[in-house]
Amino acid sequence: AKTHFHKWEVKYAYKSPDCYKKLAVTINGDSPGPTIYARQGDTIVVEVNNTLVTENVAIHWHGIRQRGTPWSDGTEGVIQCPIMPGADTFIYRFIVDKAGTYLYHAHYGMQLTAGLYGFIIVSVPDGVSQPFVYNHDKTIILKDWYHASTYEQATGLSSIPFGWVGEPQSLLINGRGRFNCSLVDSALCNATNPECSPYSLSVVAGLTYRLRIGSLASLSALSFEIENHSMTVVEADGNYVEPFETKNLYINSGETYSVLVTANQEATRNYWITTNVVGRKPSTPTGLAIWNYSPVPHDLTPPTDPTTGPLWNDTASQLSQSRALKAHHDYVQTPPNSERLIVLLNTQNLIDGRTRWSLNNRSLTFPATPYLIALKEGFTDAFDQKPPPDSYDREHYDIYSVADNVNATASNAIYRIGFNTTVDIVLQNANTMTKDTSETHPWHMHGHDFWVLGFGDGKSPFNPLNDTKRLNVVDPILKNTVPLYPYGWTALRFRADNPGVWIFHCHIEPHLFLGMGIVFEAGIEKVGELPKSIMGCGETKRLISP
Ligand code: C2O
Ligand code: CU
Repeated sequence: AKTHFHKWEVKYAYKSPDCYKKLAVTINGDSPGPTIYARQGDTIVVEVNNTLVTENVAIHWHGIRQRGTPWSDGTEGVIQCPIMPGADTFIYRFIVDKAGTYLYHAHYGMQLTAGLYGFIIVSVPDGVSQPFVYNHDKTIILKDWYHASTYEQATGLSSIPFGWVGEPQSLLINGRGRFNCSLVDSALCNATNPECSPYSLSVVAGLTYRLRIGSLASLSALSFEIENHSMTVVEADGNYVEPFETKNLYINSGETYSVLVTANQEATRNYWITTNVVGRKPSTPTGLAIWNYSPVPHDLTPPTDPTTGPLWNDTASQLSQSRALKAHHDYVQTPPNSERLIVLLNTQNLIDGRTRWSLNNRSLTFPATPYLIALKEGFTDAFDQKPPPDSYDREHYDIYSVADNVNATASNAIYRIGFNTTVDIVLQNANTMTKDTSETHPWHMHGHDFWVLGFGDGKSPFNPLNDTKRLNVVDPILKNTVPLYPYGWTALRFRADNPGVWIFHCHIEPHLFLGMGIVFEAGIEKVGELPKSIMGCGETKRLISP
């Protein structure tokens, strides 16, 4: 196994990914950042130098389980103190123990929205084969893009009255999108800037391409299509899928998919690659890229109109794709039973006059001392020691109406989970504070993959007595991110076999910012000695002072 060293300078740079010029948080000047390539079993070392002038940084390696290195997970407030501005340096070191398609992104405040994101591609070890074949491997990273700064967004979200971030101005495919410059002051927007010319993927007729598609959208759930070409889904979040064909791929923030596409259409022209907002009423133009048959010029505009994608509110078709995802038949392995059930009611509510998201009436706030360090060092006053509830009052809660949730509180309490036990989590969706509204939430777990056991269709809340029997324990897919649909429920199972402290949260950046997550601990006594480099904030100061 090899060790790959990367030296990253995190800095602000002016970028015009959609033709509109704004400051972005970049890695060595790039947004998206460089793709990390490695082979299963390799070690990745990233030396991060934070040269931002006033802003902290932390980087999460999304989908990498960090077995034995929980302190490298990159979640500020959970496992590490932030990397300080003004050229502080921090070294992440971890092993990529499973081939697949993964992501990285900022995990501090709303910094993902500012442009710090990229891919981690882990290939299979020499001599190991994959359950599918292709000629070339390509990456496509999707992002929604805002013109307001993350400071403006964060300030609105935490103000009274509440200031919502709104829909994104554009959708980026491999860091390129298109905003209509006639809508704004022309000095900032230049439609002929080459930075915002569409990404063009060149293919050779007859060959098959593996497209690794990942989304790190801040808000939007997306659809993805290649005009006239069908896609065969073969991998999801680093796990092999029983292959299925689709014209349109739904992808939520935090998910990755590999699809196989054969260049089998009339090769004398180009075709549109499109991405569109789904799940929320869109006001963002279609994101565009070009599927280019060489030797047709790579930037030749396709002769057709780009598709506007499936209906944004066709939840049934999104749900049916989620249900179609099954583990590849050669890679099935599910614990038949679980030892604990945690049902998490997802609600939007007011806490002290501020709009927040809560799970079982607890809205997550991070303590000044990161949990991992507090638990390992026995700082029992660092956070609320009384665990949050394992369920909500199903008998008396109507998920279909606006609830006042007067008991919702901000909390930094965490779940304690028996090491190596198997746990089921059911996410239960509900109405928001707006009548007849329920949103889609992509839930992501750190440190683990989980089996996706089933989805409710929104017609009734999860009932442990009846619904537990109908869960798929035969061939569920392993994932690290899964959608929760409007009024629906999503059931998942995982084994708490990775010592550490981990966050499980909605991957919509403003939702996490507003408390939509839980933190759990398992096997803290098995965690090795913590590196001093993660310390320096809250009560950890006294551990490093001479
Ligand atoms: Cu990609 Cu905690 O997230
Ligand atoms: Cu959410």
